[in-house]
Amino acid sequence: MGIDLLVEAMPTAAGFWDPETDEELLCVDVHDETPDVKSFTFVSPARKQFDFRAGQYFKFEPGLDNEDDGRCYSISSSPLRKNAITITVKRVPGGKVSNWLHDNLIPNMVVRASGPLGRFIRPVAQKFLFLSGGSGITPVMSMARELADTVASTDVVFVHAGRSPKDLIFRDEAAELARRTRGFRLVLLPEDIENELCWPGISGRISREFLSLAAPDIADRIVMCCGPAPFMAVARNISAELGVSLSNYYEESFDAALVDEFAMPLSEAIETKSFRVEFSKQGKSVEVRADQTVLSCAKKSSVRIPSSCANGICGTCKSRLLSGAVDMKHEGGIRQREIDAGFFLPCCSKPLSDLVIER
Ligand code: FES
Repeated sequence: MGIDLLVEAMPTAAGFWDPETDEELLCVDVHDETPDVKSFTFVSPARKQFDFRAGQYFKFEPGLDNEDDGRCYSISSSPLRKNAITITVKRVPGGKVSNWLHDNLIPNMVVRASGPLGRFIRPVAQKFLFLSGGSGITPVMSMARELADTVASTDVVFVHAGRSPKDLIFRDEAAELARRTRGFRLVLLPEDIENELCWPGISGRISREFLSLAAPDIADRIVMCCGPAPFMAVARNISAELGVSLSNYYEESFDAALVDEFAMPLSEAIETKSFRVEFSKQGKSVEVRADQTVLSCAKKSSVRIPSSCANGICGTCKSRLLSGAVDMKHEGGIRQREIDAGFFLPCCSKPLSDLVIER
């Protein structure tokens, strides 16, 4: 039985998944997309439906080695298919959770997860450029599937780049969507055509010349970009050069290298008060100014705290505050009951007093 039939055949949904209380997903399907990419489809064990926006993600916490090992994976399925969500995951060398998913997760297994989270959401507009590199295709594929499901009148150029033709995730399905959806144009860009010598299009890396050809009216489009950090940096620069305004440019990244510094001019920082922040398990302490986040200072002092979005969205850095008070400005990455239980997000919290953190 195909996955659509399996999900269709389930009992009527019992309300909607509640991000505040629901925390387990039941895997119902696993399949290969490319040699190192798999899609995993989940339902709610209580058969609840999912209410999410294309571009959002779930945080998965398999609890390996009893560690806080949460990782965020964008939903690749359409938000109009509410009975299930699908994530599409690339195996990463040394990637603890992605490798565990690839090697261990099979249908009927349950995994801890929270979501939906994230703000990489398509604004209301007529013309888009979807720009993805590698597994960054997952959130924009959810948007493409949504547009196809709604039969919306649309004008989308979908540019997807990958290492080689065989690494282009959703290659056949994206081509089918482009064939069947009016106003939807697909441009695939393998860096190297390897053994597929009859590749019909351009190959190479994303460049100004390529983007000018793929979307000559790029300055009139909303750009939705997701991919590895170097891909996104190049895409951002070229888009700006070609006239895309900052307000029309949206991007998604889970790259911890982008941890913010919340830097302020030195002149303003001189009189700012500092607090002593102690990490009880690692036996370390650091000075954190009242205008700095706990995470940015911890990283500079080699204190280990897992992190991902660095913006209070994903919940990866969630830690227990044993004493002290913080000013936390999160974006949905922590639940109220977790705050009540003494947890906080160091990436978006500034100290109001000396702190002791269970890390
Ligand atoms: S790193 Fe994402 S919430 Fe802190």
